[in-house]
Amino acid sequence: MASASPSPSASPDVLVVGAGVIGLSIAWRAARRGLTVVLADPQPGRGASHAAAGMLTPVSELQYGEESLLRLNMDSAARYPAFAAELEEASGLPSGYRACGTLAVALDADDRAVLKDLHAFQSRLGLASTWLTSRECRRFEPMLSPAVAGGLHVEGDHQIDNRRLVAALLAACEREPGVTLRPARATALLTAGDRATGARLDDGTDVSAGQVVLAAGCWSNAVEGLPPGLLPPIRPVKGEILRLHVPDAYRPFLSHNVRGVVKGGSMYLVPRADGELVIGATENDLGYDTEVTAGGVYELLRDARELVPGVTELPLVETHAGLRPGTPDNAPLIGRTGLDGLIAATGHYRHGILLTPVTADAVAELLADGTVPDVVRPWGPARFTATTGKELSYA
Ligand code: GLY
Repeated sequence: MASASPSPSASPDVLVVGAGVIGLSIAWRAARRGLTVVLADPQPGRGASHAAAGMLTPVSELQYGEESLLRLNMDSAARYPAFAAELEEASGLPSGYRACGTLAVALDADDRAVLKDLHAFQSRLGLASTWLTSRECRRFEPMLSPAVAGGLHVEGDHQIDNRRLVAALLAACEREPGVTLRPARATALLTAGDRATGARLDDGTDVSAGQVVLAAGCWSNAVEGLPPGLLPPIRPVKGEILRLHVPDAYRPFLSHNVRGVVKGGSMYLVPRADGELVIGATENDLGYDTEVTAGGVYELLRDARELVPGVTELPLVETHAGLRPGTPDNAPLIGRTGLDGLIAATGHYRHGILLTPVTADAVAELLADGTVPDVVRPWGPARFTATTGKELSYA
């Protein structure tokens, strides 16, 4: 990746607006297909990609009414081992992928009823998950509280260290001669007639490109010049998240991802191989606020302690808040927009890390060959305009 800015007149095949895991992986994959790519982001990898926990858990985080999204989630999870191996080879860095499995556990009898329903739903859909008694939960994870009322083992739900993933994607782009990073914000879309032709950056330069990919998470609609209603609203959903450290003497502390249902709320603990323990996450619609609150930290630690009393012994290393990009149906926007030359890859809400491989592969195929892979076809932005044939107004 050429690190400094090329001449303002440089005209790549593709301009990617936003260098989180989605934009970075699209740039990497597209360059591997022979396209030249400029990536514009003032702080690559420092948004939701930095805040996330990296759970790759389509089965244990299954939501009612999201059966069709499940297909996309499962497809992306299945791509992860090969995607991570290829990335490690390309970057020379670890990807942070960890095939650890997931336990979903319930604190009390009401929480157990919630998980029993989830288990029945998973079974109806043919998903692999095994019901566990309290004792069986503790056989898997001895640090769980004896109060845990039961749970599920999902052997195929794993994790990736999202910060290692960002570092590896940046290094892979760095090694890819076709990718140029511009550390600047795209402020306005450039158009000619009915076609996107590039973007203006806040360093005062214009980048003209054959195609533009909008991958700016909850800031995607902030790019000036987007035709009104082209994309649905993308709301920022704040998530506070904690990082603790498990000293050598306490390891292994947890071996699986632990997703908890605690008095009706849900939270998770994600143990890394290097001793990091991620505890998340709150979920609030508070606009672009990224303040970490005492209440958010308290709730996460309170619920984590109910499930795993030993967490209070661990050093608290970091508190952080990020903004998930939420669409009206909480599903991503992947595909052509109503403006020629402009492709959306945004709105991944709670699943940006999980959906990275499928989004990157699909968008790279669309950019290089002009075809939309079947797996992402339902998730194009056109689904918000399909009934009227016109763009909707959300004003
Ligand atoms: N995917 C986990 C979260 O959004 O908190």
